[in-house]
Amino acid sequence: MREGASPLIQRSDYQAPAYWIRTADLTFDLDGAKTIVASKLQIERNTDLPVQALRLHGEDLNLLRVLIDGQSVSFRHEDGLLVLDAPEANSFVLEIRNTIAPEKNTQLSGLYASGSGLFTQCEAEGFRRITYFLDRPDVMAVYSVTLRADKKKFPVLLSNGNLVEQGDLDAGRHYAKWSDPFPKPSYLFAVVAADLVAREQWVRTRSGKDHLLQIFVKRGDLEKTEHAMNSLIASIVWDEARFKLPLDLERFMIVAVDDFNMGAMENKGLNLFNTKYVLATPATATDADFDGIESVVAHEYFHNWTGNRITCRDWFQLSLKEGLTVFRDQEFSRDMTGSASARAVCRIGDVRRLREVQFAEDAGPMAHPVRPEAYQAIDNFYTATVYEKGAEVVRMMHTLVGREGFAAGMALYFQRHDGQAVTCDDFAQAMADANPSSHLATSLDVFKRWYAQAGTPRLTARGEFNAEAGSYTLTLRQHSTPGAAPQLLPVSVALFGRDGSAQPLQLAHESGAAGTERVLVMTRAEHRFTFTGLTGEVVPSLLRDFSAPVVLDDGLSDADLLVLLAHDTDAFNRWEASQRLATSRLLAAAASSQPTAVDAAYVQALRSVLRHPDLDPAFKDLALTLPSARFLMEAMEGVDPQALHAAREHLLDQLAEQLHEDWAWAWTAHQVREGYSPVPAQSGRRALANLALAMLVRDARRSGDTVWPGRAYQRCKDATNMTDRLGALTALVYAHAELAEPALQRFHAQFQHDPLVLDKWFMLQAGAPERDGKVFARVRQLLQHPDFTLNNPNRARALLFTWDTNPAAFHRSDAAGYVLWAEKVLEMDSVNPQLASRFARGLDRWRNLAETYRNAAREAISRVAAAPKLSSDAREIIDRALQ
Ligand code: ARG
Ligand code: ZN
Repeated sequence: MREGASPLIQRSDYQAPAYWIRTADLTFDLDGAKTIVASKLQIERNTDLPVQALRLHGEDLNLLRVLIDGQSVSFRHEDGLLVLDAPEANSFVLEIRNTIAPEKNTQLSGLYASGSGLFTQCEAEGFRRITYFLDRPDVMAVYSVTLRADKKKFPVLLSNGNLVEQGDLDAGRHYAKWSDPFPKPSYLFAVVAADLVAREQWVRTRSGKDHLLQIFVKRGDLEKTEHAMNSLIASIVWDEARFKLPLDLERFMIVAVDDFNMGAMENKGLNLFNTKYVLATPATATDADFDGIESVVAHEYFHNWTGNRITCRDWFQLSLKEGLTVFRDQEFSRDMTGSASARAVCRIGDVRRLREVQFAEDAGPMAHPVRPEAYQAIDNFYTATVYEKGAEVVRMMHTLVGREGFAAGMALYFQRHDGQAVTCDDFAQAMADANPSSHLATSLDVFKRWYAQAGTPRLTARGEFNAEAGSYTLTLRQHSTPGAAPQLLPVSVALFGRDGSAQPLQLAHESGAAGTERVLVMTRAEHRFTFTGLTGEVVPSLLRDFSAPVVLDDGLSDADLLVLLAHDTDAFNRWEASQRLATSRLLAAAASSQPTAVDAAYVQALRSVLRHPDLDPAFKDLALTLPSARFLMEAMEGVDPQALHAAREHLLDQLAEQLHEDWAWAWTAHQVREGYSPVPAQSGRRALANLALAMLVRDARRSGDTVWPGRAYQRCKDATNMTDRLGALTALVYAHAELAEPALQRFHAQFQHDPLVLDKWFMLQAGAPERDGKVFARVRQLLQHPDFTLNNPNRARALLFTWDTNPAAFHRSDAAGYVLWAEKVLEMDSVNPQLASRFARGLDRWRNLAETYRNAAREAISRVAAAPKLSSDAREIIDRALQ
């Protein structure tokens, strides 16, 4: 394990590699206890640089021998690197033989065991845990790989590219040879040796070529792979249609693995996936799980072009592939819904995640630009900023150059850089050059501040109506974080009359026909826009479809927001109005020491949304869901999580009571009677019905009613799909209903052999709203449960990560939450540093807490900091938290 204070790696220190590796010929004698790796590398000196020693990365390896051009050479170890004096020849063959111990590899980086199989994860720096190498993305080699293993134990042997040979060896062993024609960086290398079966499908792309698609899973899981396969085929079709990017591989494989640190990995031609993003049947997976599979399968598939064909020069450029690929998978998911309102529902979900996770990150100790400047452990920078904010940066480019312009920019990017390892600047330049008259091109330097500056910009908007002139002047001001310069903000805008009618947007100096929606582009701190030809007061609808990732202060009154909630033609802003109305009430209630009674106008507005004849049920579900405590905490200073939680619970209780009849109607009116399908037309109805059920069971606590809890219990028993079963169970558990216990027991008994469903069981209990310390007590109890283990990341996340993001169950006034947190960070760190450093981020925002919490949190973080042994991953997070 890499321990202690690793040196800070700076973006400005980038240097081209001193050597290139042209080909890598690898032979593995695979065995869980001891795997032998023989590597033969064709290496060339980079003659652009002065002659220097060959320094190879390597970690946790047992070196057996080193040969150059067949001769043994001397070597030394320096700062964790294997150093060889510069060979005489500019081109030579390096042969290395080493062993590794996959079964001891609990970090799940490099070659490791999961169940009875062996799997790899190399991004970002796992390849150096397999053999010595120049483990950096700008070194690209053509790989050929020979795998040898026991045939019974490991009947399936896979690596990247094409299978060129296979056969039996003596002593019950067999072999397979793979060759990958595409040069690739080591982080895209993969090996699988396991007892698996595959769903197979041949597809023909537009060029008339046939390709084999395979999804490998454990025996017995084959019928759970249909949705993943359909998603893969849809992704192939979409990328070819929208971006003219065809499948370039003869064979595209997906392998599902139980123990995996992340969602999935885009290894060339051999994607490895967390089972969570492959396996689904209606009985075991929820609507959200089906959507998650569709989007992750697409994401990894899209990486084949944006990531693999063009990769990153260095890890500071991570968003080059991740931001762009998230943008692409978001667009795909939106296109797949097939309706405007379902598209908006996707967008709302994406923005919700961005604001809860990324905005918090950008305000805390881990704040970093989309293109970071420095890191200790690169694995800590697979963040919401690099991914989600990075995707928003690409989305703004798309807004600025339009759909056609964006497609042209992509085409130019591939024309210039296919096969190369490049930078974020190269991408932005291609986009700008393909659209020379766009704001992107004319203000490219201002735009590129999005890559360089951390923090969430604030945008203030104030409007003034001039009745005499019939004009409306909108003043937009941006406030970047201290030290930051103004950024380029595309601000999509519409104006509505008080009666809800959309107004023409005619700027004072313009002539010609005016539309009712347009994008204003800010490049300076302040801009003023005057719209003319207006006959009355207007309500501005700004940042439509969330056109820039900023915090907006538009000073709108409740009355204004009610107009937008009733009439805005942009579904995102319509939803946003509902959230703003809720937020102001929740913040006021949290700040007051008295329970606050909810006002009738707000309740009536929610009722109108719920009963609206034309709105989509999925939209209604989102508009009637209160902002999360995590979101609200970012809108406050000196947060008292218990007070906030109490305020939120109290508002929910009142909405449950005052809208009781409406919830009962909603439940009945949104039952799905046709056969299960995870399509938006059904999932929206299920979501709304489940929200209604939760509110009705909550209200039963007040009224003493037993009918609704009884119905929920019945639904837990009879439901024919997991969305409804889990929805009913959630209603009982979240309301702390008496029937929750028997329902939980039943659920456990029924699904104890399905790890992914069992994860839901843990998650549900750890994520329940706290009440009298019961949720925290339950978390402690579940840590001792025979089904709990820290060795499986999904299980650890289900219990511990759910808990440390559950505000009132984690931030306790007696500090017991923080004490447990410190204990578990350390325990996890000795098993799996990447996982531990993620979990450690649960206290990122400790400085924003009220004093008593803050002091207790500081103490817990300091305790972790003082531990004698800490991985460099966890060390970086903890040090930054205390800085
Ligand atoms: N490239 C993968 C993806 O976005 C994720 C890899 C994450 N790696 C890590 N070390 N956290 O699909
Ligand atoms: Zn990715």
